[in-house]
Amino acid sequence: MKRVLTGLQPSGELTLGNYIGGIRQLIKYQDDYELFVFVPDLHSITVEQDPSLLKERIRKNIALYIASGLNPKKCTLYIQSENLYHANLSWILECHSYMGEMSRMTQFKEKSASKKNVSCGLFTYPILMAADILLYDADLVPTGADQKQHVELARNLAERFNSKYGETFNIPEPLIPEIGARIKDLQEPTKKMSKSSTNEKAIIRLLDEPEVIRKKIMSAVTDSDNKIYFDEENKPGISNLLTIYSVLKDISIEESVNLFKDSNYGTFKKAVADIVVEKITNLQNKYNEIINSNLIDEILDEGYKKTNEIAKKKYYEVKEKVGLGRTDNIRLYQ
Ligand code: TYM
Repeated sequence: MKRVLTGLQPSGELTLGNYIGGIRQLIKYQDDYELFVFVPDLHSITVEQDPSLLKERIRKNIALYIASGLNPKKCTLYIQSENLYHANLSWILECHSYMGEMSRMTQFKEKSASKKNVSCGLFTYPILMAADILLYDADLVPTGADQKQHVELARNLAERFNSKYGETFNIPEPLIPEIGARIKDLQEPTKKMSKSSTNEKAIIRLLDEPEVIRKKIMSAVTDSDNKIYFDEENKPGISNLLTIYSVLKDISIEESVNLFKDSNYGTFKKAVADIVVEKITNLQNKYNEIINSNLIDEILDEGYKKTNEIAKKKYYEVKEKVGLGRTDNIRLYQ
């Protein structure tokens, strides 16, 4: 059975973009694949975090995964920092990565451009992501479009390691949804919707109040042409709303355009707000049932045990191939 793996950072409360690009596509995989979904909390400290908020968001992420439809009986849920092998493998991979290739990472360039103090972790972050993937020999990595370059780096590092030390890592494939891979900011629809945005009006958080969501959609930036059709370049705001509507209704963009081609923007925005509020209200109801239950700890304990075993074996194999430690030290891992 193919193994599918992904994670969503707890660096801010999850957004509709994270749901559409990152979580939604996982729901269908849990029946046919072995699915691993984790909280990459080590990634979050590449930028400054408030420790108590971070801890709270880690738990919230798990509750949101389940509330979105991930069934803990069918998939494995865990926290990156609880498993020490992620950071250990990352170090070994760092020593097999080049400054040049890391400097070409688009997300690093964007995230570091506006910062005074850029942490070394922000620079090496894609290597930790490669470790997250390669530690489990993931076959498929579903993400939004912004993470594709990072999955490609994981492929390159795996190939490089395999050719130097012999077959060790599976080569993962990125899995980017056909529609909804880059949900846009509601106020600046040429930018992606980002959970670390400073303009709350521009993003929809999965835990926003329904009425707040409605207001944000009704005041989303569009254009003055008052015609509804899909053209990302010239009509980014309307195209973004068409994408959100189509994905949540599970219909094609063409079908949505047909439905609204004779409507005005007000009517169209109201329809978008209705479907977003409907989906998010269902999700929030489930979230409220889960967030304070013991279920989360039980699930995470199970997830830790299972993933720690797998990661331990892979890490030992890598360490041995690279020549680290003592040869017979496998007994330390038993
Ligand atoms: P993160 O936390 O930024 O985003 C989580 C997921 O949401 C997707 N996404 C979007 N999709 C559509 N439209 C948007 N506006 C949008 N914004 C975000 C992201 O593509 C992602 O799928 N480095 C990763 C987390 C990570 C990871 C991994 C993922 C760490 N290790 C291993 C996969 C495998 C990140 O920061 O995603």
